[in-house]
Amino acid sequence: KPYVVGIDIGGTNTVFGIVDARGTIIASGSIKTNKFNEVEDYVNELHTELFRLLEQNNATDKIMGIGVGAPNGNYFNGTIEFAPNLPWRGVIPLAQMLTDRFGIPVSLTNDANAAAIGEMTYGAARGLKDFIMITLGTGVGSGIVVNGQLVYGHDGFAGELGHVIVRPNNGRLCGCGRTGCLEAYTSATGVARTAREFLEVRNDPSSLRQIPIQDITSKDVYDAAITGDKLALEIFDYTGKILGEAFANFIAFSSPKAIILFGGLAKAGDLILKPIKEAMDRNTLNIYKGKVKIMFSELKESDAAVLGASALGWEAK
Ligand code: BGC
Ligand code: NA
Ligand code: ZN
Repeated sequence: KPYVVGIDIGGTNTVFGIVDARGTIIASGSIKTNKFNEVEDYVNELHTELFRLLEQNNATDKIMGIGVGAPNGNYFNGTIEFAPNLPWRGVIPLAQMLTDRFGIPVSLTNDANAAAIGEMTYGAARGLKDFIMITLGTGVGSGIVVNGQLVYGHDGFAGELGHVIVRPNNGRLCGCGRTGCLEAYTSATGVARTAREFLEVRNDPSSLRQIPIQDITSKDVYDAAITGDKLALEIFDYTGKILGEAFANFIAFSSPKAIILFGGLAKAGDLILKPIKEAMDRNTLNIYKGKVKIMFSELKESDAAVLGASALGWEAK
C-alpha cells in the first residue's frame, strides 16, 4: 500500500495528511480539537473528515497505517494520559479507538516526539544523531533523540521537558497542576501571561496597552516586538532567558549537537534566538560550550508533526 496517514493533535486544531513513501503530503485537512468535550464525538468527526479526504484521493484501500502525535501521548500503549491542554480527562485509549473505527493499524506517540521524527526524517535534523526537539505552542513539548533513537524511557513517557521546574519559588501555576514549569513561562499562553504581568507592574509606554489586557496573545507581543516596541522586546528577552537557562541544563543530560525549535514562538526568529543563546552560553558547562547549535525547524508549520506521525504509520501493527 503506497500511503500512510499522519495526524497531529493540537489543543486547538487537529491536522491530518495523506503521505506517500517519499514524505510528500498529498492531501490534508483539519478539525477543531477543542470543540469536542467527549472524545467519542471527536473520533466520529475525525473519522468523517479523514474518510472524506481518503475518498477524494482514491486512497481508502491504500493506507498502510495511521500515525498519531498527541500531547501526553504514550507510544508504548497508544494512550493519551492526563493531558492538560486537551478537553478529555484521564486515560484515553485513542490508538485503539481509531483502529476500531478505521480498521487500519494505528501507532501513537507524543506530539513533540512526532515532530522530532519528522525533523529527523525530512527536516533540519537529517543526519543528526543527537538532538533535542523543543516545540513551543499551547504547551511546551520535547523529543529527545540520542544516538539516532528517540528516548522513550521505561514507560513511554520520557521527554516531558516542558514540565521541568524553572522557578522553584513562587512559580506560576502550570496546567499539569504543579508550579514553576518551563511551559508556564515559555508557551504561547506563558508569553501572554508575561505580557500581562509586565503591563500591570510597569508604567512605560507600549503599543500593547491598546489591547484589553485579558485579550493579549503571544502573537500581539510578536507583532509589537517587530515594530521595535521596547516592552514587547523585553518580554522576548525574559522568555528567551528562561529557555536558554533551561537548555543549558538539558544539554547536560544528553549532550545534543543541536536543539531544534518549532512552533509559534520559533517564528520570532532572532528576537527569541538572541536571548536564548546568551542565557544558554552563560549557563552551559565548559565542556559543552560553543558546541550546541540552536536551530529552527525546516518544516512548514504542523508539517513536522504530521510527517513525523505519518512515519509511524509505516510500522503500525
Ligand atoms: C504536554 C506534552 C506535549 C506538549 C506540547 C505539554 O503540556 O505535557 O506531552 O508534548 O504540551 O503539546
Ligand atoms: Na516527548
Ligand atoms: Zn507543568
